[in-house]
Amino acid sequence: MESYVFRVRGETVDKPKVVLGVSGGIAAYKACELLRRLTESGHDVRVVPTAAALHFVGEATWSALSGHPVSTEVWSDVHEVPHVRIGQEADLVVVAPATADMLAKAAHGMADDLLTNTLLTARCPVVFAPAMHTEMWEHPATRANVATLRDRGAVVIDPAVGRLTGVDTGKGRLPDPAEIFEVCRRVLARGVTAPDLAGRHVVVSAGGTREPLDPVRFLGNRSSGKQGYALARTAAARGARVTLIAANTGLPDPAGVDVVRVGTAVQLREAVLKAAPDADAVVMAAAVADFRPSAYATGKIKKKDGEEPEPIVLVRNPDVLAEISADRARAGQVVVGFAAETDDVLANGRTKLRRKGCDLLVVNEVGERRTFGSEENEAVVLGADGSETPVPYGPKEALAETVWDLVARRFG
Ligand code: CTP
Repeated sequence: MESYVFRVRGETVDKPKVVLGVSGGIAAYKACELLRRLTESGHDVRVVPTAAALHFVGEATWSALSGHPVSTEVWSDVHEVPHVRIGQEADLVVVAPATADMLAKAAHGMADDLLTNTLLTARCPVVFAPAMHTEMWEHPATRANVATLRDRGAVVIDPAVGRLTGVDTGKGRLPDPAEIFEVCRRVLARGVTAPDLAGRHVVVSAGGTREPLDPVRFLGNRSSGKQGYALARTAAARGARVTLIAANTGLPDPAGVDVVRVGTAVQLREAVLKAAPDADAVVMAAAVADFRPSAYATGKIKKKDGEEPEPIVLVRNPDVLAEISADRARAGQVVVGFAAETDDVLANGRTKLRRKGCDLLVVNEVGERRTFGSEENEAVVLGADGSETPVPYGPKEALAETVWDLVARRFG
């Protein structure tokens, strides 16, 4: 796995110290995969399971995969004062899975084993990845505990929806370990203990719409959705509740993000308008088709020997960005647009910003080999206040961070 330069609290660190807390749920086996990802990408991981977690995955596994001894209680190696030291020295604590019981203990500051002691002594960012049955997740007691932890600055990732331990399905699954790893990586890189988007709801659109011609053909575009997904992941790691409206992307659901899938521009508009009323920010990273075929053939369009094809007649699609900018669903809502331009990038960007009426417009130059599908991007963020923020060529995630910095500044 690719390693990267770690910056913890502004300092470059060789091997950030991560505590992986594991509480007693069946999803404990998935934490092994998270542990592997963390160690293979250069983190020094200390696993602190609860006694209940060891019913699911044994001490030998945690110890072998982490390369460290494992203990559940405070009475081992007492001369090293582990119940204080492990938390104090950590750069990040992640609890995955976090059971309802673990969230309750953490919210109330209980400290009856090594993991709960570690949570009380940690002064670094803390991420909880809950996993439990839907009823437990929705119980008012759990809701209150999650709200307390988030108020205190912890990042609590919403569980995923899907098959649970038994035959039932619902919200409560541990998100994909690869996605929990992404949250950890971002939280660690920011190295701040108070996520600045906590308590905010943000809506992000991503991908490219497809306008069907017949059951097998469509008019589409080359947007991969990667920039929108980077925005969603980054916002989640900064504590926001995120609704991601994904148009035709094949990317995995980011952890803790509510993903709504759409196909066409009209469907995307509906989904954005539904999610926008309580949103603090709406970021339109999707490439929305400006036109759609005026007619849809319910059967496949066939070629006819000796005949010219019928011309495709197009009609205008609604401009979602202009609409939400004009009718702000709530006062102070920050609206961000994206513009891909091939020529006169800045001048066209300024005109577009005014025409769309948004607060910020991320303008990037596109061409044959630039931006689409790549991991990198280069842009200038134009503000309705006349500001201009250049973002040098780099990962889409860095651009996402800058966008949220500028949005957070507008929240005041
Ligand atoms: N957008 C939208 N609805 C549309 C078209 C675009 O909400 N029907 C949004 C995109 O999500 C993006 C921004 O508008 O945030 C810029 O889109 P772009 O297609 O570049 O702008 P246009 O107004 O279509 O200008 P152009 O004439 O360059 O196509």
